[in-house]
Amino acid sequence: MSLRPPGSNDESIAMRPLIAIGFLLAIGVLLVAPAPMVMADSGRSAGPVIGERQVRRVLRSGFPALPAGWETRLVPDETMATCADIRGEVPKEIGERIKARERARIVYPQDGQFLGDWRRGEAIAQSGYGMRFTDTTAQRPNGGNCYACHQLSPDEVSYGTIGASLKGFGRIHKFRPEDARIAYEKIYNSQAIVACSMMPRFGANGILSIEQIKDLVALLMDPASPVNREEPAGGSASSAQPEPTQPAPLPQGKARP
Ligand code: HEC
Repeated sequence: MSLRPPGSNDESIAMRPLIAIGFLLAIGVLLVAPAPMVMADSGRSAGPVIGERQVRRVLRSGFPALPAGWETRLVPDETMATCADIRGEVPKEIGERIKARERARIVYPQDGQFLGDWRRGEAIAQSGYGMRFTDTTAQRPNGGNCYACHQLSPDEVSYGTIGASLKGFGRIHKFRPEDARIAYEKIYNSQAIVACSMMPRFGANGILSIEQIKDLVALLMDPASPVNREEPAGGSASSAQPEPTQPAPLPQGKARP
């Protein structure tokens, strides 16, 4: 990617990568954590450096009519700003500082219980509602959109793979209460566990409530949750997914893109 500094002869060409970067940063700032891919090949020393102010300006101009209260969502907090600046692995000392700062933001359930209701947890994991332009008048609670990045219940066949599969999570962790607490902390503030995590900080950023996070912990850690269902040995037609050796045939009349 070649980046020309603004003010070079061809403004429109020079702006294009800036807009692309602005867009990537917007996604990074609004949805996930760092954007290490941004300028990954230009680095800090080689080529023109795009300053934070320029990026902010492009970002801001990309959202001409912001709903009330959105202004702050375009401004990275200290952790975000630090992570956006890091290329590749997070240096240990910086990582420890981020984790300590984010850990201090975790609010624990007053009753000391980490497991809510896995059925509600499944609905929250499925829901991508909330914090979009169309969701400004909250009609229902925010969702966690967990399936966008994780496999959870084996019944759901559509999921993203940015995060690891969480199928069998509780079983793997032997349903230990200590691991339920860690799962709560992870969902409440992912960066308390992994600095510059790509996973949103659901509790710390006010996306999900304490009760909702407990329901998600139950989805992961309750022995009755479908996440922890034992796969029948050898697999069965209903629950085990066959290893595809070739693309499955598409329904009649649909072209493969
Ligand atoms: C934008 C993608 C993304 C979303 C959305 C997301 N996660 Fe994650 N999650 C990750 C990534 C990446 C990791 C692994 C790296 C890390 O720990 O930060 C992870 C790690 C985890 C872990 C730790 C896994 C382990 O092996 O210990 C848990 C638990 C988890 N996620 C639960 C959830 C739940 C519950 C939700 C929904 C509320 C969710 N995640 C939403 C990306 C995501």
